Amino acid sequence: MDTLMRNIPQHVAIIMDGNGRYAKRLGMPRIKGHQEGMENVRRIALTANECGVKYLTLFAFSTENWTRPSKEVSFLMKLPGNFLGKFLPELKDKNIKIRTIGNFDGLPKHTQKSVSKAVLETAENSGMELIFALNYGSRDEIIHAVKSVVESVQNGDTAIEDINNEFFSQHLFTKDVPDPEILIRTSGEYRISNFLLWQISYSELFFANESWPEFTPENFEDILSQYQKRERRFGGLKEE
Ligand code: FPP
Repeated sequence: MDTLMRNIPQHVAIIMDGNGRYAKRLGMPRIKGHQEGMENVRRIALTANECGVKYLTLFAFSTENWTRPSKEVSFLMKLPGNFLGKFLPELKDKNIKIRTIGNFDGLPKHTQKSVSKAVLETAENSGMELIFALNYGSRDEIIHAVKSVVESVQNGDTAIEDINNEFFSQHLFTKDVPDPEILIRTSGEYRISNFLLWQISYSELFFANESWPEFTPENFEDILSQYQKRERRFGGLKEE
């Protein structure tokens, strides 16, 4: 833990992949894998918080996931409510703040209700921000941002010359959140799957072989210490 205390990333993003395959391997229905994945959200969120991570963004439901069988979709839509019903008191106790990115209005009303309640009840918390990407797609997010920038130019609030990286970032769902230093994908797949495309421009990528339900706090801490050994140059040169 000693080395872990140094150079802790502010923001870690995770693609929680492999719930379905995990369940299948154990002869269980896919939704059981999602259920165990939900339990692991608690474990990893608490670990990240203890390590001093300031923002943890979790890909919980993508804009593409609606094409899954309707039974699985409705189970996935119940998970935020189940998770918060079970763990919100503990998260509040740890001063964790809940927020979301994605097309919130496109979620079922019951999902919106339980998540909004948690967002509201933790709004004043100053600890780690636990950000759920729900009905999230990066291309959607970028289009949404472009529309908002164009509107601002058309209204006369913004001059075209003033549009730069920083300005554009402020129109994304992740407004006011620093870019992730680390992106993790579990379950041995090497894809980004439309997650935070703008924000991960310079992120360090880690691919874990474990499926999400099996990804342990030790795996998480191991990635943090590997990160601490990586040299980040942001397109520049190593300092002499
Ligand atoms: C991808 O695994 C995972 C998902 C589509 C859902 C992820 C959601 C959770 C882990 C729980 C969310 C919890 C909260 C609190 C919102 P997959 O099913 O695509 O795995 P597979 O590739 O093995 O089929």
